[in-house]
Amino acid sequence: MTQEILIHEAGGVLELCFNRPDKKNAITGAMYGALTAALKDASTRSTVRAVLVTGEGNIFTAGNDIKDFLAMSGGGLDGAPPGRFIRALATFSKPLVAAVNGPAIGIGTTLLLHCDLVYASPAASLSVPFVDLGLVPEAGSSALLPLRVGFARAAALLLLGEPMEAEAARAAGLVNAVVPAGDLLEHARAQARKLAAKPPAALAATRVLMRSEPGALLAQMDREAAAFSEALRGAEAREAFTAFLERRAPDFSAAAE
Ligand code: COA
Repeated sequence: MTQEILIHEAGGVLELCFNRPDKKNAITGAMYGALTAALKDASTRSTVRAVLVTGEGNIFTAGNDIKDFLAMSGGGLDGAPPGRFIRALATFSKPLVAAVNGPAIGIGTTLLLHCDLVYASPAASLSVPFVDLGLVPEAGSSALLPLRVGFARAAALLLLGEPMEAEAARAAGLVNAVVPAGDLLEHARAQARKLAAKPPAALAATRVLMRSEPGALLAQMDREAAAFSEALRGAEAREAFTAFLERRAPDFSAAAE
C-alpha cells in the first residue's frame, strides 16, 4: 500500500490525504489505485459515514502526474487508474467533504465537483488547465462546471485555464467557506463529523435527489474519456508534457498543421 495516500478513520469519517509533497502531491497510478480501493472499501463498511479529502503541505494536489500522462499516451483514460477513480468518485454513495489547503489543479479541482461540502484555505485556488496541456476536461467537469458556475466563468476556467482564487470560488458557489489555514482541517473534520452523525439513509437519499439522474453524467464522462484518450495520444499533449518536464514553455506552432 502506498504511503502517498494517507488513510485515517475516526468518528465515522474516513480521511484520505494526498501525501507526495516533494512532487506537489501529483497523483500517480498507485495513488489513484489506493484512492479507488479506499472508496470501494468505504462504501461497503457501515462504520464509514463520510469521507474527507485533503492534501499534505501547501498544495491540495498538482493533478495527474505528468510523467504518468506521458507514459499513458499510447493508451487512454478509460479503464486506467484515473478513469477508475473518477467513476468510483462519481458513483460514491456517502457524503464527500474536501479541505482544500492550497492549489487544486486538474483533477484536484474536478474531484471537488463531486464533493458535497468544500472548505478552502485563503491560499487555495482552483484550476483546470486541460487545454494548456493539449487535453480536454474529465470527471464530468465539461458539464458540471458550466452548470455550477455558468458558461462565462466555466469558459475562463476551462478554455483560458485561469485559476479561480479561494474567495472567488466561494462567491461562485464551488466552495462553502474560506477558512484560515490553521483551522481548515479541523473545520472540515467537524463538518464531516456532523454529516457522519446524521441518519445515513435520509442523507444518502438526499444526495441522490440533489444530483441529476446519474446516467447523463456518466454518459458525458464517457464522451470526455473518448476525447481525452485521443488527446493523450496527440502531438499537443506530448509537447505540453515534455515542455513541463523540461521546464520550458511549450511550442504549439507546429501542432495544428
Ligand atoms: N506531475 C508530475 N510532477 C509534478 C507535477 C505533476 N502534475 N507537478 C509538480 N511536479 C513536480 C515537479 O516536476 C517538480 O519535481 P522535481 O523537483 O523533481 O523537478 C516538483 O514537483 C516541484 O514542482 P515545481 O514545478 O518545481 O514547483 P513550483 O512551486 O514551481 O510549481 C506547480 C508548483 C504546481 C504550480 C507546478 O509544479 C505545476 O504547474 N505543476 C503541473 C500542474 C499540472 O499541469 N497538472 C496537471 C493537471 S491535468
